[in-house]
Amino acid sequence: MRESVRLADLTTLRVGGPATVAECASTEALVATVRALDSKGIPVLLIAGGSNLLISDDGFDGVVVKVATTGVELGADGVIAEAGANWDGVVAQTIDAGFGGLECLSGIPGSAGATPVQNVGAYGVEVASLLRRVELLDRASGATRWAEPAELGFGYRTSKLKHSDDAVVLRVEFALDPSGTSAPLRYGELATTLAVTDGGTRPAAQVRAVVLRLRAGKGMVLDPADHDTWSAGSFFTNPVVPHARVDEIRALITAHVGDVTIPTYPAPDGVKFSAGWLIERAGFGKGFPGPEAPARLSTKHTLAVTNRGAATAGELVALARKVREGVEARFGIHLEPEPVTVGLTL
Ligand code: EPU
Repeated sequence: MRESVRLADLTTLRVGGPATVAECASTEALVATVRALDSKGIPVLLIAGGSNLLISDDGFDGVVVKVATTGVELGADGVIAEAGANWDGVVAQTIDAGFGGLECLSGIPGSAGATPVQNVGAYGVEVASLLRRVELLDRASGATRWAEPAELGFGYRTSKLKHSDDAVVLRVEFALDPSGTSAPLRYGELATTLAVTDGGTRPAAQVRAVVLRLRAGKGMVLDPADHDTWSAGSFFTNPVVPHARVDEIRALITAHVGDVTIPTYPAPDGVKFSAGWLIERAGFGKGFPGPEAPARLSTKHTLAVTNRGAATAGELVALARKVREGVEARFGIHLEPEPVTVGLTL
C-alpha cells in the first residue's frame, strides 16, 4: 500500500485529492485485496483507467484499489481481457490479429473492465452488442463467476454494474469476427466518411483508422500535450425525452434558436436529443468561458468539461453545474452527468 497518493495522477481529468492506494497487478491479487478490505469493512474505490471518474479535492477516505492487470488472450473467435488492460490496446491487438468487431470503439480512454460498467459506446456500436461474458467478484459472498450479458441490464451508457458496489469486474470476453470485417456501420458521420450506406461494412483496420481520426478531431483521444483531452469524455449523457414532452421541448428550442434542424435520434422510450448541441445553443460554446479559465469546455467539443492544467474538482463541478442549469433554464431538459463522482455531487 502506498499512502498519500494524489488521485489526480490516476485520472484523465487530473483532479482528486490524496488517498491510500493498493496496486493489484494480477487478478488473484485484485480478488484477495478486495476480499480482505471488505472483510474489515474498509471503504474501497476501484480505479483502472480513471477516464470516467471525477474525484473530490478531499481525496478518498478508504483504500483505492488500482486495477493494474494487463492480460489479453486472443482465441479463435474472441478475446478475453483482464479488467485493467488498456482498452484501446485490446482493440488494436484484435484488429492487428485480423479480427473485426471492436473497431468503432477505437481510441476510447480507459480499461477493458470498465467498458461493460457503463456500456461504453461510440460510432454506432455499444459494448453490450459484442460482449460474450464478464467475470465478476461478488463482494457480498466473495465468490467469482462468469455472468451473461442478459443478467447485466444494459441500457444507453448504463448497466446494473454502474452506481453499484456489489461486484468487481475481473475479466471481459468479446465475440469477434475472424474474417476481419467491421460491425455494420450505422453512425452517419462515420458511414459518410467511409462512403458506405447505412449498415454496410468495411475492413476493420480501415474503420479503426477513420474512427481514430474523427475522435481526435473532437479532442476525444488522450494526448498529454492537449488540454482538450484532459477530460472524462462526454460529461453528460444525451438526454432521452419521453414522447409526451417532445413537442414542448421542440417548441422551447425553436423559440430560442429559430426554426433550425434539431439533431435527434430514436431511443427505446422516447427521443434522444444531442447534449453537445443543446449546450452550444444554450450559450455555452466551445472553450466556454474563455482562455483564462482553469476549467473550460473543450475547444473541440462542448460535451467535454476539461482541465486546462491547474483546475480543481470544485472548479470543474462549478462549470458543469452552470452548463446544466443553463440548458435546463433555456430548454427544459435536465442533463445527467456521465462520469462517476466520488466525494461530491453535481
Ligand atoms: N455538436 C455541437 N457542438 C459541439 C459538439 C457536437 O453542436 O461542440 C453537435 C453535432 O453537430 C452533432 C451532435 O452534437 O449534431 C452530436 O455530436 P457527436 O457526433 O460528436 O456525438 P455526441 O452525441 O456528442 C456521442 C457519445 C460519445 C461518442 C460519440 C460518437 C454520449 C454521451 N457521447 O457523442 O461518447 O464518442 O457519440 O459516437 O453518448 C463518451 O461517452 O464519453 C463519448 C465520448
